Amino acid sequence: MKQIRLDKYLSDMGIGTRSQVKNLIRKGKVTVNEGVVKTPEFKVSSKDVVNVDGIQVSYVEYEYLMLNKPGGVVSATEDRRERTVLDLVPDSARKDLFPVGRLDKDTEGLLLLTNDGALAHQLLSPRKHVDKTYFATIQGLVSEDEVERFAKGLDIGDEKLTLPAKLKVLSSGPVSEVEVTIQEGRYHQVKRMFEAVDCSVTYLKRLSMGSLKLDEKLDSGAYRALTEDEISSLKSGNKESEG
Ligand code: URA
Repeated sequence: MKQIRLDKYLSDMGIGTRSQVKNLIRKGKVTVNEGVVKTPEFKVSSKDVVNVDGIQVSYVEYEYLMLNKPGGVVSATEDRRERTVLDLVPDSARKDLFPVGRLDKDTEGLLLLTNDGALAHQLLSPRKHVDKTYFATIQGLVSEDEVERFAKGLDIGDEKLTLPAKLKVLSSGPVSEVEVTIQEGRYHQVKRMFEAVDCSVTYLKRLSMGSLKLDEKLDSGAYRALTEDEISSLKSGNKESEG
């Protein structure tokens, strides 16, 4: 961890707003390595022992949360009109979390929230071809023909065809159920792929992203911290996490 200002350190850890922690510091309530520090700009790192009123405050640099996104909320950090995915994690200590990629407002399921920009980049970079698997309910008959067309790549009106996508048909009829795995994250991609084969998506839920699988025990709108195994699998780019 690089050195950061003492007031940022404390407000990142949820001790208070920037002005509240500045007050605490100026009042002499904060010690660094047992010496009182009264300047909010004082630089500290994770090697320093920081106490507030005698209680140690350790610095957690990165946070990783798995959210089971419900429909009706937008994948943004702020929105003037709509509820955002961050409104669903109000008790998070950190103020710098953001969603890794976007799900449409009506799409549900796995969304990773973090402040780790490097991991987000790794997961979102088009060159990395990270698998994203969705469950979808489809208005229209989905058959082997569509499986082949998805596997070849589809013209969805962009400059390039989509990369090959895996389509698993769970049930086929006037309304079909599928699992679809794509390696890109183009705007409305799954919906546009089904439109390209004359069908429409009526329900969409993300089940996994890279090695990270949606925890089935998470109710819609609930979240939990990732386990150490989940974090290290995601970072190493493993396809499967160990448990
Ligand atoms: N594809 C879509 O069409 N929508 C999403 O939210 C995600 C993938």
